[in-house]
Amino acid sequence: MTDAVLTTDALVTGSADAAWWRQAVVYQVYPRSFADADGDGLGDIRGVVEKADYLAGLGVDAVWLSPFYPSELADGGYDVADYRDVDPRLGTLADFDDMIAALHGREIKVIVDIVPNHSSDRHVLFQAALAAPKGSPERDRYIFRDGLGENGELPPADWQSCFGGSAWEPVGDGQWYFHFFATEQPDFNWDNPDVHAEFLHTLRFWSDRGVDGFRIDVAHGVSKDLPDVLPSQAELDALSTTDGRHPLWDRDAVHDIYREWRQVFDEYDPPRIAVAEAWVATAERRAKYASPEGLGQAFNFDLLEADFDAAQFRHIVTDNLAQSAATGSSSTWVLSNHDVVRHATRYALAPRNGSLAKQGSAWIIAGAPADQVDLARGGRRALAASLFLLGLPGSTYLYQGEELGLHEVGDIAPEHRQDPAFFRGADPDRDGLGRDGCRVPLPWTGDGSSFGFGAGSAHIPQPGWFAGYAVAIEDADPASSLNTYRRALALRHELQTGESLEWIETGRDDVLRFARPNGWQVVTNFGTEPFPLSGEEPVLGALVDGAVAGETTVWLRG
Ligand code: GLC
Repeated sequence: MTDAVLTTDALVTGSADAAWWRQAVVYQVYPRSFADADGDGLGDIRGVVEKADYLAGLGVDAVWLSPFYPSELADGGYDVADYRDVDPRLGTLADFDDMIAALHGREIKVIVDIVPNHSSDRHVLFQAALAAPKGSPERDRYIFRDGLGENGELPPADWQSCFGGSAWEPVGDGQWYFHFFATEQPDFNWDNPDVHAEFLHTLRFWSDRGVDGFRIDVAHGVSKDLPDVLPSQAELDALSTTDGRHPLWDRDAVHDIYREWRQVFDEYDPPRIAVAEAWVATAERRAKYASPEGLGQAFNFDLLEADFDAAQFRHIVTDNLAQSAATGSSSTWVLSNHDVVRHATRYALAPRNGSLAKQGSAWIIAGAPADQVDLARGGRRALAASLFLLGLPGSTYLYQGEELGLHEVGDIAPEHRQDPAFFRGADPDRDGLGRDGCRVPLPWTGDGSSFGFGAGSAHIPQPGWFAGYAVAIEDADPASSLNTYRRALALRHELQTGESLEWIETGRDDVLRFARPNGWQVVTNFGTEPFPLSGEEPVLGALVDGAVAGETTVWLRG
């Protein structure tokens, strides 16, 4: 029995260039940890320029840069003090222009991160809000409320921030401001037209500089509707997040904002693209962000949240391809990013990655019982899962270092940690250890200062075992993860001829096999028993005694 999946081919309109994003491989650069050209320990824009050949050699279609804007680094740069400049520690706008030229010269598109939910508390608009009195137009650009108690000494509500602790901060005159995230990240009030104008200006500023698209941070949190009498956290938690009417999250009204942005994107040729970071409750809710009148594409985190499990993978793929066919978008696939435990490490936990990872992924590196952790197995499964993803229709987002099979760093000393989620005590998924473990600077060489990251010591220390994952070491090994990614990305251009797939039944619950319209096939063995393939020679991956070995993926040319 085959199970055909709807295709969106018919919905693809416009020039080929306008549709570049539909099947693109996008590589996420976390700029402060990618490459440090000036040797101050912090990655920078010139570092990206210097590694342009590396990115071209890897074969990515686009680079997405996490924030590089001026920031006090209260949240790794997601606290933006100026949306239209480069942090002086990372370079200048001229460096940015050079980077665009270097990447475009190698046919790599550039996506930047837009953070519309909140600014830094150092942003000029927030400083103006603090300097202005209660009830002023300046304060109306953010979310201020009177405190409770006789003199406003109590928060307006008991709401908790996503990073732990109160979501309200007093400003000393009886008023408090709201912040979903760290105290240094006040939320904008998107009912205020000045906020709309500020972001339209920013989108045009970067588009005019040649940026090809935008990743929209916390896209589902931007629109809010706070009543005069605020509900309690318990009351908030009891409200539905799927009817579009929650006061804080995934409100239908948010799409009015993105329709306005779409008009700006479409002022350019080719139109600028956008991808929403929207951690919403259902695939249907996510599809709203991916509509052609809105942002056009949305991250699908379902595989990232799934176990290394054939049934889960198949269900998620079928579901999401149907969703994107219905909306006219294309699917996105993600296994790792700067907010989650690297997938090689998640998959190192036996028996399945999910349950134990949720109890605390970091301790697995820091000395978990050996019978519960198998890093080599995690690496094997990670590569198998990545090659499965890269064979799918739609676009795939890779996180820097995953091409090396890099693991999470678990044992970072508290004094070297930077993530506010660590200091504010949130993030139970990681035993409160925060997100620094996936943000450790990349190893480029097997020795030398900061393993080739830069001349200085890396801003988050790299463990000694990083040497084994260095680009230079893997470069020399034809069977390395890096060289396998390179081969896959090169072959992928032949494979991506349509946006559909057809499942081929394998007779095994733990083996998935699908064919693309041109006959190419992907076979992933999620189990440990070899899966025999008769007379077929893979173009990617090798058979062992005529079989797909356990926890591996092969590609077959049709
Ligand atoms: C997004 C970012 C995350 C950041 C948060 C607040 O989820 O990916 O890194 O901490 O938004 O901006």
